[in-house]
Amino acid sequence: MKPRDFSVVVALGLCALFLNACESTPKSAPPVTASLVRAGGRVKADAPTLTAGRAVFLNRCIHCHALPNVCRFDAPRLTAIVAKMSRRANLNAAQHDALLKYLLTVRSF
Ligand code: HEC
Repeated sequence: MKPRDFSVVVALGLCALFLNACESTPKSAPPVTASLVRAGGRVKADAPTLTAGRAVFLNRCIHCHALPNVCRFDAPRLTAIVAKMSRRANLNAAQHDALLKYLLTVRSF
């Protein structure tokens, strides 16, 4: 590897370390880490709610299509899509609420 190639690898590695979920694309369902929980405060979601929302996303939203990258949508659009998709996935109110909080947190994270 030429020294220049090496610095590209280092730069990419640093990007992966410091960029958040939305900017470092393919992470559609990032795990509930301490920093995600801090971001969740903006939508008044605590760690158990975010964990429940992620579980709903991973288990229920995968039935008809691949997990979408929610960073593609702004918050109002995402809220509308999640309402529609929650009906399709037969979610109850608590599941819908946790899922929406998790996805809004991921997209703002
Ligand atoms: C019963 C099948 C089904 C389930 C379950 C389902 N979806 Fe979908 N989803 C679709 C279909 C079909 C589309 C294509 C666009 C449309 O019909 O609105 C879609 C499209 C989408 C899109 C893209 C919308 C757009 O405007 O580009 C998102 C985001 C999405 N789904 C999220 C979810 C989430 C989150 C869940 C979990 C609650 C979920 N889906 C569960 C069938 C489903």
